[in-house]
Amino acid sequence: MTQDELKQAVARAAIDYVVDGEIIGVGTGSTANFFIDELAKIKDRIKGTVASSEATASRLRGHGIPVFDLNDVTSMAVYIDGADEITASGAMIKGGGAALTREKIVASVAKQFVCIADGSKLVETLGKFPLPVEVIPMARAAVMRKLAELGGQPRLRTKPGTDEAFITDNGGEIIDVVGLSILDPVAMEERINQIVGVIAVGLFAKAGATVCLLGTPEGVKTLT
Ligand code: 5RP
Repeated sequence: MTQDELKQAVARAAIDYVVDGEIIGVGTGSTANFFIDELAKIKDRIKGTVASSEATASRLRGHGIPVFDLNDVTSMAVYIDGADEITASGAMIKGGGAALTREKIVASVAKQFVCIADGSKLVETLGKFPLPVEVIPMARAAVMRKLAELGGQPRLRTKPGTDEAFITDNGGEIIDVVGLSILDPVAMEERINQIVGVIAVGLFAKAGATVCLLGTPEGVKTLT
């Protein structure tokens, strides 16, 4: 099976976690896109969605799925999203698609976080995938110095093919920290959250995934 077929399989399996008549939080990225396409097939069963990025909102609307502003939503049954790395206990690195801040916000309102990922995302120790940190642009250099003190090599994410900083949906910039071996994800998340100028860190450890649907050639495995 190709990686896309594995992503499609977990996206399909995630439909079992959609609660009828409720609002569903929807993540960002290629696996989330497969999920949106599956959700479109049952869109009449849900009240609507909250999107974790402008790209996701536009794909949802393209399918005729209602997208609510999070400020107008008081409860959300489930948040469904991919990950760049996940451990067996549900701690994740996210933000490869630069949507980490809104992903964390939307996930924080949902009762459950269902992570959908192909098997290559399962790791023993987080950190091989560069850790994304969203920052206020004027704090970029100061935050990079602090991140270097943690033992990684911070790199500013740029727009493809240019030297210009990539700008997120929130007007922030992304620093990708290479070379970390994150043995204590909760402690690392707390430490990075405390750096002034950081908007959010792409470590989802204090509040990780409640369920992970992992696509493998033998079928979809459920980790809880
Ligand atoms: C976006 C994310 C994505 O969930 C993560 O990058 C995984 O993406 P994909 O499903 O394309 O592998 O965190 O900010």
